[in-house]
Amino acid sequence: NQQTAAPQTATKKTLPDAQTVTEVRHYTDRLFYFRTTRPQSLRFRSGEFVMIGLPGEDGKPIMRAYSIASPAWDEGLDFYSIKVQDGPLTSRLQHIQPGDEIILRPKPVGTLVLDALLPGKRLWFLATGTGIAPFASLMRDPDTYERYDEVIMMHTCREVAELEFGRQLVESLPEDPLIGEFVGDKLKYYPTTTREDSKWMGRVTDNLASGKVFADLGLEGTQMDPVTDRAMVCGSLDFNKDVMAIMEGWGLNEGANSEPAQYVVEKAFVG
Ligand code: A2P
Repeated sequence: NQQTAAPQTATKKTLPDAQTVTEVRHYTDRLFYFRTTRPQSLRFRSGEFVMIGLPGEDGKPIMRAYSIASPAWDEGLDFYSIKVQDGPLTSRLQHIQPGDEIILRPKPVGTLVLDALLPGKRLWFLATGTGIAPFASLMRDPDTYERYDEVIMMHTCREVAELEFGRQLVESLPEDPLIGEFVGDKLKYYPTTTREDSKWMGRVTDNLASGKVFADLGLEGTQMDPVTDRAMVCGSLDFNKDVMAIMEGWGLNEGANSEPAQYVVEKAFVG
């Protein structure tokens, strides 16, 4: 067999589970995007995360959970990360360049998957900061649009520059040759800032509770309906807790793979 006889040296890896960085984009002094090669064996569902990292000083890898920000059909893997100056991993990860290797364990897991939700009509993606990463995957999954009539992406950051990664992605979707047709006019985007002026202001929580997002986007109703609305939440612990309280008040319950319900939650990468 020609394939097994082929020399392996050209793709020799220096790290276990190594993948090669193919692109890096810095958005702010606190946020960056990077893309890596994808292990051939890696199958995942949109919204899941994997452990990625770098070898530590003592040779022991420093690994953290990162949502995969690219769709399952993509040949590479996208990630979106904060930079923490004294963070054990991100203080070093922020300096990666194309051609560098990172460690990526090809074992995807997570609760932010469409299968953990009951069928519905309207799907909400609710995120703060880097919590938009899993939705960068889900917004490019044809399944999202096959299962729901309307998809609403709410994303809150302190400043306008921190919204840029999400904005670029959302704006590219209608023209995307692979996913554009599925997206059509189903995706509604509601970016807000809390500490710098922009078109729409305020926290996701406040704009949901007050009904402002329904008015601004011309959506049906003034609150979520447990019969037709489904939601996925990804942000800080406090954000997740506050959004859950609002949705529970409207009669939505948390679902899981084993028991689908009205919403699912995941903590965004911290530190
Ligand atoms: P705010 O500026 O009012 O704190 P951070 O950078 O601290 O992670 O915050 C990211 C965004 O999430 C900010 O716009 C912040 O708003 C908002 N935020 C922080 N905590 C909550 C919360 N408990 N509920 C809703 N939004 C939150």
